[in-house]
Amino acid sequence: MKVACIGSGLIGSGWATYFALKGLETTLFDIDDEKLDQAVERIKSNLKFLYEENVIDEREFNFCIERITTTTDIEKAVKGAVLIQENGPENYEVKRKIVADIEAYCDDKSIIASSTSGLLITEIAKEAKVPERIVGAHPYNPVQLIPLVEITKGEQTSDEFVAKAVDLYKAIDKEPVVLRKEALGFISNRLAMALYREAVEIVERGICTIEEIDKACCYGPGLRYALMGPNLIYQLGGGNYGIRGALTHMGPSVEHWWADMADWKTWPEGYADKVQKGVDEEMANRSKSHGNTNEEIAMFRDKGLIMLLKYHGKM
Ligand SMILES: NC(=O)c1ccc[n+]([C@@H]2O[C@H](COP(=O)([O-])OP(=O)(O)OC[C@H]3O[C@@H](n4cnc5c(N)ncnc54)[C@H](O)[C@@H]3O)[C@@H](O)[C@H]2O)c1
Repeated sequence: MKVACIGSGLIGSGWATYFALKGLETTLFDIDDEKLDQAVERIKSNLKFLYEENVIDEREFNFCIERITTTTDIEKAVKGAVLIQENGPENYEVKRKIVADIEAYCDDKSIIASSTSGLLITEIAKEAKVPERIVGAHPYNPVQLIPLVEITKGEQTSDEFVAKAVDLYKAIDKEPVVLRKEALGFISNRLAMALYREAVEIVERGICTIEEIDKACCYGPGLRYALMGPNLIYQLGGGNYGIRGALTHMGPSVEHWWADMADWKTWPEGYADKVQKGVDEEMANRSKSHGNTNEEIAMFRDKGLIMLLKYHGKM
């Protein structure tokens, strides 16, 4: 089965790595050869890591490389592809243009799935010839390791194409979750940004430092979130009384907390500079084994993800 990745940046090369790992013939398109060369290096590095972690052997490494064809010819990329995963820049105009380029050559039955992090599929599909086949399929970085794909529909997306997309992602061991309605930020980023707004708020109020926020998440709730969602966490927190008991018990206090928590809609001025300084200090303070540079910390993350995926039976 052939699939295509349009746009070969961080996410496009992550998808290509994953599709190839799952045995799919994958074409990877970008606007110039330089981008494609960078993508091939990224894919090789993704695969090398999996090889070094004993997830794949040398034979599989080589098969994966062979399964990926790079091209700057959109017709070659999409012709005959069952799924076309769009990973271009996060911008309506560019994404509409990419959809038009794809539709000029793809098969009638192809699914066009956008990796958009939060744009509306209705808008992306506005000028499409066949808007019924355009779905959102939002992955999480690193795509080759994180199972979640949030599937979103636009006003004209058909249930038939949503079902086809869900079946396909399931068949390659992804964990698709379908949104029943369009929503900016989908499920996961809405949750992530609700948490992050409060993280910003308590730093701004001087309650704790940037490093302490990360420690409090990582060594506390974050460990549980890697294993189950908030509803199951409160179910267990309620003991024999379950989540109903937990909410009945904690509910009145929590309403006081909510009344005191952030509800602003624009970022505090200068926060990006402030947080960068705090994160630079935090990175310098980490032990060597946990990593001090972006690359070392990403490696630390990915090794941990492999252990968790094995525990979840996903690897
Ligand atoms: N970075 C993340 O963590 C993340 C996570 C989930 C989803 N996404 C989404 O995935 C998409 C890609 O993000 P990214 O981080 O890989 O960006 P990126 O900048 O790394 O890659 C974008 C790629 O698109 C290519 N491109 C530009 N114009 C194009 C065109 N007309 N046709 C085809 N390709 C074109 C660029 O050359 C580049 O290689 C975005 O929609 C983004 O919101 C990103």
